[in-house]
Amino acid sequence: MKMLVTGGAGFIGSNFVHQSVRERPDVEITVLDALTYAGDRSSLDPVADRVRLVQGDIADADVVDPLVAEHDLVVHFAAESHNDNSLNDPSPFVRTNVVGTFTLLEAVRRHGVRFHHISTDEVYGDLELDDPAKFTPTTPYNPSSPYSSTKAASDLLVRAWVRSFGVEATLSNCSNNYGPYQHVEKFIPRQVTNLIDGVRPRLYGAGLNVRDWIHVEDHNSAVWRIIDAGRIGETYLIGADGETSNLDVVRTLLEIFGRPSDDFDHVADRPGHDLRYAIDASRLREELGWEPRYTDFRDGLAATVDWYQENESWWRPAKAGVEATYAASGQ
Ligand code: NAD
Ligand code: TYD
Repeated sequence: MKMLVTGGAGFIGSNFVHQSVRERPDVEITVLDALTYAGDRSSLDPVADRVRLVQGDIADADVVDPLVAEHDLVVHFAAESHNDNSLNDPSPFVRTNVVGTFTLLEAVRRHGVRFHHISTDEVYGDLELDDPAKFTPTTPYNPSSPYSSTKAASDLLVRAWVRSFGVEATLSNCSNNYGPYQHVEKFIPRQVTNLIDGVRPRLYGAGLNVRDWIHVEDHNSAVWRIIDAGRIGETYLIGADGETSNLDVVRTLLEIFGRPSDDFDHVADRPGHDLRYAIDASRLREELGWEPRYTDFRDGLAATVDWYQENESWWRPAKAGVEATYAASGQ
């Protein structure tokens, strides 16, 4: 099978390529990635002899169309992915997340190629802290930010291309991922690399916001389950019952680093900050028999800390620039 992975030089995409090389030796893999600030060729170094990397923009039909035509399956991770950036400049979010997904859909439609669309639980908006509810596949879309609204738009395009044109696509909406190769702009890598540098973690607002953390390996094993056995046109929610407040994430990291539990700073809150995300993954578990492997968040976090300690050359070049951007927003 020939598989095209968009965004395969980013965080989740590169982990997906690593997992696929390990577990699917019969799959030929091409990565299409624009290598934006968030994409790093070196994230694919360990599998470079098994993967072809094409540098190109998913919104460029002249690049996308002939490449898609050579493949049997497209797994679409490429996106502008950071909420804070989307508040500073939404325009690349519209181009990549909406126009890019549209461009891929037109190509898979033309060439009859199977498509799996990677999305986020943030399309559903947020939940109250004391609400027992979780997101399900029928929760109404209610995105808050330019990031989540452009991801929501991309999901709706995929659904429409399935219904109107018979495109063979599945969709998945996953909760917050953590693990190796995540950009230092994101919450967990930012705090881990701050702690490595002896800098106090930074919590937006009171730190009570809740995210439903899942290890990136579990996200990607679920994606393979859906590719193998998911129903065409269906949406699967991916989550591993990992609800944790930002404050508790920081306290766990402080404990791992042997620092006092109050050794952090509160900084300016994010405008429109979603309060809580929580996933009901019962369709994935019951229909497709998927189970997560990383069920102990502290263990997964400690392994992630080890990875950042051992791979400073991977993250160091981006760190100062990211911190300068945050400082300009009082964060
Ligand atoms: P990331 O920012 O780490 O990686 C995105 C990748 O896409 C980068 O390699 C970048 O170079 C590439 N890219 C960006 N614009 C492109 C373009 N126009 N053409 C080609 N390539 C382009 O993102 P991530 O965290 O790995 O997220 C991957 C996907 O998973 C996204 O679709 C995101 O919405 C979704 N998702 C992420 C999370 C999370 O916690 N990070 C959770 C759920 C869903
Ligand atoms: P983030 O990793 O940006 O993911 P998302 O916005 O997709 O959930 O942020 C996760 C949570 O951490 C979110 O509630 C914002 C918060 N946060 C901080 O408290 N401090 C930080 O330095 C960052 C980057 C995020």
